[in-house]
Amino acid sequence: MKLNGPLTFVPILLLVLGTSALKLEEEEPRQKRLFSLFNVVRFRNEPCSGGRLDNIGTCMSSTECVSAGGNTIGNCAAGFGICCGFSIVGCGGTVTQNCTVIRNEGFPSPTTETDKTCTYNFNRIDSNICQMRLDFQPTTTLPLATLPDGQCGDTGAELRVGSGFSNNAAAFPPVICGQLTGQHLYFESGSTGNAGSLAISLGTTPGPRQYNIKVSYIPCDSPLRPPSGCTQYFTGLTGTVTSYNFAGGQFLGGHNYNNCIRQLEGFCSFSVAESAIVTPDPFDVSNANMIQDNCMKLSHVLIPSSVMIHDNDRMVIVIPSMRCGQNFGSVSGPDQRVPSSLPSLPNVPFAIGVRTLPAMLVGGVTGLGGFSLDYTQVPC
Ligand SMILES: *[C@@H]1O[C@H](CO)[C@@H](O)[C@H](O)[C@H]1NC(C)=O
Repeated sequence: MKLNGPLTFVPILLLVLGTSALKLEEEEPRQKRLFSLFNVVRFRNEPCSGGRLDNIGTCMSSTECVSAGGNTIGNCAAGFGICCGFSIVGCGGTVTQNCTVIRNEGFPSPTTETDKTCTYNFNRIDSNICQMRLDFQPTTTLPLATLPDGQCGDTGAELRVGSGFSNNAAAFPPVICGQLTGQHLYFESGSTGNAGSLAISLGTTPGPRQYNIKVSYIPCDSPLRPPSGCTQYFTGLTGTVTSYNFAGGQFLGGHNYNNCIRQLEGFCSFSVAESAIVTPDPFDVSNANMIQDNCMKLSHVLIPSSVMIHDNDRMVIVIPSMRCGQNFGSVSGPDQRVPSSLPSLPNVPFAIGVRTLPAMLVGGVTGLGGFSLDYTQVPC
């Protein structure tokens, strides 16, 4: 709890007011005095919790919450404030508060609408915003196109982000769809205009269309801010990295992004292996009938592996190593089953890259489930 100066004086003054020495005072001025005391109470508008993990709000006075159009979802600031939650329910809108949740028309039921695009703009609420983070909460699911497998957009739905950071779609995370609950996505907010936008095209493919997405503004100096170019960011000693729509059982096509891991102090590298699950298959990233002797022309994941040190300038170059096929292994190339444990390397970015062939490319991502990989940071 962080409160500013005036509030810390409130309990002391109340105590003084409660002593018999003040009993001689008339009721009216005393009430006035109490009233004016409470008027100077201010809260830092910090994130607070409404009890459930997916229920995040901002700490405010009840007056502030009402005038900002929020709803009470709990208490904060030791009961002096209320936890004010913001949501937009419906197709499109403007986000003006941190941690606003955007939900489809009719949520928690799926929307019955199809064939339209719902656009949400994220106002730049602060000058110190560098990135935006979207958390896909229960339940976020949008149907893929029926054909080709792994295609978002087209007749399928799609979720696409943008900002003043760039006009080039390639500067942003890939377009995603499918079952996204539990996953998240970061993108750069740029320094001008809105801090970002999210366009959700509902498509026409049959299937439930539902979304419940928490929008967070990431300050430039936030420990939650990943390095540029990281679409997912994991901060634990251990964790599980899954491809988008892994729960939906279909790898998505045309992707090129990185999953980054925040390096903990005293940890120099990380090891990564297939998650210990049998169903769905934790590593299913290229078609068996397309597997040749290298991963370059197939959908694959990238892990840091070898390092070249230039003696003259001491420059360190990390060469990522590709893994593809039906098994994730310690050796580059298809189908090496031994779980990979990476050597300790200096200055290695803790990242797992993903590159997938476009769905349109015959056999590109047909019938592939994607991956679920467990990482563990390794002490120096
Ligand atoms: C928005 O909320 C997140 C927590 O969900 C917090 O880390 C971040 O600092 C907040 N952003 C701003 C601009 O206050």
